[in-house]
Amino acid sequence: MEKSFREKVLSKFREIAKKHKFLKVPTVVCATVILGVYDFVQYFASNGKRYASLVVLMLFFTISSSFCFPAFANSDVQTVEYNYDSQVELAMDEAVSISEMDMLDDDMDEMSEEYEYEDAERQGMADADKYTLDEILEENDSFAHFSESQASAGTEEYVFDKDDWRLILVNKQHPLPEGYTVELETIKGNMQCDARIIGDLIAMFQAASEDGVNLIVCSPYRDMSRQEWLFERKIKTYMGKGMSYMEAYSLASQIVMVPGASEHQLGLAIDIISDNYASLDEGFANTEAGKWLAEHSYEYGFILRYPQGKEYITGVEYEPWHFRYVGKEAAAVITKDGICLEEFIEGL
Ligand code: DAL
Ligand code: ZN
Repeated sequence: MEKSFREKVLSKFREIAKKHKFLKVPTVVCATVILGVYDFVQYFASNGKRYASLVVLMLFFTISSSFCFPAFANSDVQTVEYNYDSQVELAMDEAVSISEMDMLDDDMDEMSEEYEYEDAERQGMADADKYTLDEILEENDSFAHFSESQASAGTEEYVFDKDDWRLILVNKQHPLPEGYTVELETIKGNMQCDARIIGDLIAMFQAASEDGVNLIVCSPYRDMSRQEWLFERKIKTYMGKGMSYMEAYSLASQIVMVPGASEHQLGLAIDIISDNYASLDEGFANTEAGKWLAEHSYEYGFILRYPQGKEYITGVEYEPWHFRYVGKEAAAVITKDGICLEEFIEGL
């Protein structure tokens, strides 16, 4: 009977080992390896179809994932699907180290002053642009009738329209639409906002004043060059503290929006401070003005646009001073549900 492959190998190696005693160990090793490989191949040969499909499947996943990889590797956004027919793009939740956070805190202290005076620096004015309600009404007494504007709105039966100008989504992933134009109304001096929101803005300031809270408007509409100036200045500040350009860019964009993607450029966002707290920092949330705005701004169509805990969606740090006009109906839903604008629009 013909010898099997295994028997042939074993007898061959036995022969060699008998002739050359010193080769005994290497022949045992060689025989073990050769028979091991042989058994391995035999095993796969007898389960051929099953393993062939497995190999094809693995190849398919390897090739398809290699197509996806460069898109994520070069992007600073991640896409998360919320439901079957639409998706929201989220800013990457970037870890900020303790030392960076310290820098951020120092910088925020400095920023309070910078913010106060940046307009003065740039435009050569004696005082920075920031006005109380009385100062605004002094110049535009025609605004006085806005204070009679009705607060709040019923949201029952209200059908939201994704194309409503008040709901336009502008963030790092959604820059201003090309050619976006807005009719601006002057609040006072160089301060402007979208003409359509002035009534609700004045009504909100009036209501706060009646509750004993003196709000101050600062930094409403910004044009592109102003946003660029603010953004570049922030990058320079961080680079001056030893960060690389990329680190500085990444951190700056969590505080000052990338030019072309700021709601201030829409004329729908207003930074608000109060007469006894002029700093643009988290401490504003604990002031009477910060609390009043967080509680009542929705009644006038404004939302706290960058809430605490939603930074991973908005890509922007907690800004209790930045209010965005979305209309009374949407503002009521967003505020009562504790969601951010991205989540609200995703749900439409
Ligand atoms: N500070 C906000 C994010 C802006 O610059 O639009
Ligand atoms: Zn702002």
